[in-house]
Amino acid sequence: MSDIEVKVKEIMQDALGKLESVKEMDALNEIRVNFLGKKGVLTSVMKSMKDVAPEDRPKVGKWVNEAREAIESRLENVKTVLENEIQDRKLKAEAIDVTLPATEKMMGHRHPNTIALEEVERIFVGMGYEVIEGPEIEFDEYNFTKLNIPADHPAKDEQDTFYITKDILLRTQTSPVQARVMEKGHLPIRMISPGRVFRSDEVDATHSPSFHQIEGLVIDKNVTFADLKGTLDVFAKELFGPETKTKFRPHHFPFTEPSAEVDVSCFKCGGKGCRFCKGEGWIEILGCGMVHPHVLEMCGIDPKEYQGFAFGVGLERIALLKYEIDDMRLLYENDIRFLNQF
Ligand code: DAH
Repeated sequence: MSDIEVKVKEIMQDALGKLESVKEMDALNEIRVNFLGKKGVLTSVMKSMKDVAPEDRPKVGKWVNEAREAIESRLENVKTVLENEIQDRKLKAEAIDVTLPATEKMMGHRHPNTIALEEVERIFVGMGYEVIEGPEIEFDEYNFTKLNIPADHPAKDEQDTFYITKDILLRTQTSPVQARVMEKGHLPIRMISPGRVFRSDEVDATHSPSFHQIEGLVIDKNVTFADLKGTLDVFAKELFGPETKTKFRPHHFPFTEPSAEVDVSCFKCGGKGCRFCKGEGWIEILGCGMVHPHVLEMCGIDPKEYQGFAFGVGLERIALLKYEIDDMRLLYENDIRFLNQF
């Protein structure tokens, strides 16, 4: 064997040996460059051809080519193996175990006020009522005058509020929506109007300067107090259970005549008297009455042709009763430990 043949064989063995233990693409490329590249060891053998006797050159060329082919083909094999390994590793790393439990999402839920409101809306919408909203910033005229509460009426003192100008205020009740809807003149009317109201009250367990009411109004021909009683009786039974009884106590509101306050039989003790109803057996839930003829007239409705009834419910009061909450402030503090219970 000539020296050159031995040298070429050694180079080939060296390259194949190195390829055996290659684990990374970078190392593979390095071998390719070191052996087969322009300045690679095998290439340098070709470059030294000028020192070889002309008759030996074809033989040397053949050895070098055989060695190159052997190295190249092994390189390709190893490359395929490495590529597969890399792909496998990648797939393993990206694998998703679909049987793992999902990460828990924090789901919020409705505030007890909202739950109570939606319950009240459900009941009245079921009886054919529309839900209509009115403005929280209201004219004194709608909040008081059109509801039969003239400038010097003592009822204005009881409902002191926040004035924006002499004539514009934060509404103290949802009742002004009655006047707004009646004025539109689309009769008959069957509506409820929920919303925020304001009074300059100190905060305590049963008061807040901002709270919510739900107004109700029905205007039609031949509407009587019996319709009012029947409607509110159904409402109370739907809200507090079918055993619930209602009691209408005479009362006074300037915009209804006659007026009443409605009590429901205590749903805790069934009316016997307990701590919840303070021994009374009854719990007050709302004010109501037949719309005053003067109010109808002021809103452009002829009281000889049309009559109606109205009622006003405190939303917080309903929520406190329904969920047996003893302090209204809890509804506004946004304490998650409290809210989580509903
Ligand atoms: N607006 C009254 C209040 O805030 C509640 C009320 C009583 C509304 C009788 C009515 C009603 O519609 O007929 O005290």
